Amino acid sequence: MKVLGIETSCDESGIALYDSEKGLLADALYSQIEMHTEYGGVVPELASRDHIQRVLPLINQVLEQAGLQRSDIDAIAYTKGPGLIGALMVGASIGRSMAWALGIPAVGVHHMEGHLLAPMLEDNSPEFPFLALLVSGGHTQLVRVDGIGQYQLLGESIDDAAGEAFDKVASMLELGYPGGPKISMLAEKGTEGRFKFPRPMCDRPGLDFSFSGLKTFTLNTVAKCREAGQFDDQDRADVALAFEEAVVGTLAFKCRRALRETGLKQLVIAGGVSANKRLRVQLEAMAKKEGGSLRYARPEFCTDNGAMIAYAGCQRLLAGEAEELTVAPQPRWNMEELAAV
Ligand code: KG4
Ligand code: ZN
Repeated sequence: MKVLGIETSCDESGIALYDSEKGLLADALYSQIEMHTEYGGVVPELASRDHIQRVLPLINQVLEQAGLQRSDIDAIAYTKGPGLIGALMVGASIGRSMAWALGIPAVGVHHMEGHLLAPMLEDNSPEFPFLALLVSGGHTQLVRVDGIGQYQLLGESIDDAAGEAFDKVASMLELGYPGGPKISMLAEKGTEGRFKFPRPMCDRPGLDFSFSGLKTFTLNTVAKCREAGQFDDQDRADVALAFEEAVVGTLAFKCRRALRETGLKQLVIAGGVSANKRLRVQLEAMAKKEGGSLRYARPEFCTDNGAMIAYAGCQRLLAGEAEELTVAPQPRWNMEELAAV
């Protein structure tokens, strides 16, 4: 089955073709980052308008890459939610209309399920059951995964998501948007041990996270440096390093606790923040020490992309899932409500 995947939940138009027998055939991405940079974050209305312009040319591009015609597509998977309503509407309307015109089924995919299953696109893919850490711009969740659609939420952030904290701290350091990769790069020049930031919620039981206090702590540190008369590039790098270490340390601490509590051995990380090098290295070492292993997707499939939507949609379509013709995006959507396949 050849599935066209359409991702338009935020600021990236991601399109891909996935074949249930041959694997990924083609994928293309248009990132709107440059357009949103001057505003310091995503402007929803601009995002929707840009998706309208990008999606059809990208579909033509992946078809050409794969040497296929529209008539070769067997089904369409589009991101149904969660995300920005206007942006979701674009992918849903195009996906649904195209499926109707071609006389093929279409299915709306949960964006976080897409992220969660992205490591399945790699060699040495994860095997059920496993523990998943979902870390994106909008979510920080620990999930027990027993199969596709069999998700048990074990813990999540009670305030900011990890990616959101990266973005806000990047803005404090005047690094621009999106912050994750920029903080990471700057942290490489940081002085080890100059600042020690707290590891939020690690002194309490449970598997929830909180990153808002860490953000305030960072803001106060920056303010103190400025009051002392200077905040130069080295200070910025030192703060970036301390912040990244604190986020990564906290995530690793909670993942280890979750592995021990569930008895699971395999840890999967997914979502934009899972592209973070320090996080990968630290979690890999931790998982090994616990007698387990770590799995993740290539960096471009950690952040938003069409391949993960095509893959997740394909699994649901193969299991016989089908939807009515209505276009009904869900900007807020709990992953535990999904049907098991
Ligand atoms: O999954 P994603 O592309 O979009 C959402 O579904 O939210 O995640 C985007 C988030 C942003 O907050 C971005 O700063 C963060 O992922 N991110 C990173 C890195 N690459 C992207 N955070 C830390 N380190 C990175 N290398
Ligand atoms: Zn995402």
